[in-house]
Amino acid sequence: MRKIIVTSCKGGVGKSTVCVGIAAALANLGKRVLLIDFDLGNRSLDLMLGLEDAVLYDICDLALDRVGADSALLIHPQFPNLAFIGAPFRYEGGLTKENFGHALSLLEETRDFDFILIDTSGGAHESVALSAPFCETGLIVSSQNPTSIRAAEKSGLILDEFGVKEQRLIINGFDMQKESLGKRAGVIEMIDRTHTPLCGIIPLDARLTLLSEQGRTAFDGGKTNARRAFENIAGRLCGENIPLLTGFSGIRRKQFLYS
Ligand SMILES: Nc1ncnc2c1ncn2[C@@H]1O[C@H](COP(=O)(O)OP(=O)(O)O)[C@@H](O)[C@H]1O
Ligand SMILES: [Mg+2]
Repeated sequence: MRKIIVTSCKGGVGKSTVCVGIAAALANLGKRVLLIDFDLGNRSLDLMLGLEDAVLYDICDLALDRVGADSALLIHPQFPNLAFIGAPFRYEGGLTKENFGHALSLLEETRDFDFILIDTSGGAHESVALSAPFCETGLIVSSQNPTSIRAAEKSGLILDEFGVKEQRLIINGFDMQKESLGKRAGVIEMIDRTHTPLCGIIPLDARLTLLSEQGRTAFDGGKTNARRAFENIAGRLCGENIPLLTGFSGIRRKQFLYS
């Protein structure tokens, strides 16, 4: 079982979108996945997964022994392998690292999971400090925006402090056209500037926003490059060697990877 924290020091770079896409792709591969909304500032995954009406208890209820793991877990109706636990509507502080560790143990005792994915708040937030120490892997999400790239670099340093050994960069909202025209940072430049090896590239695709607003995942939107990107990342997290942009349509790989 592998615990993965999804993070960035910046809000709005797509952490939650990336969490949902990767969790759905892993579950679709037959992996048993638990997705934890640990954005203590502004929960969103319940909405993005279409589970808002089903959420009764949250990760803090579990961490503070107000409820058992079976009652707190929800199963996604479309992906039976995907379990979910939400964040509180209003976090009033007071959670410790030990409390979070306790919640994780209860969840692991209840079910066997292949992957636990943890969505976090933007910024150097408490949610990162409480959960990162338990994670072997950190996925750092960045867009091509200069402030987001700087935030990704800082996120790597924060993950170092908490002992997260394996760190990987996810480039989200990648604008193929602008990059090839030299208007945005390129892939190699982003790897250089964040000092983080790449795990995957998710294209800019307005349909992802539309789907998440309807509580649906990239798997409901046909065979898009975005869906393929999540599938490729899921495969890589399972140890497969999948070259960048495998299965993408309508792009000239050489043009933007090596320009
Ligand atoms: N690859 C993408 N293409 C287009 N829009 C995206 C993409 N990734 C995220 N978004 C949109 O960006 C906004 C912020 O995404 P979100 O996942 O909530 O970010 P965060 O969790 O980092 O705050 C949302 O409206 C989301 O739909
Ligand atoms: Mg979020």
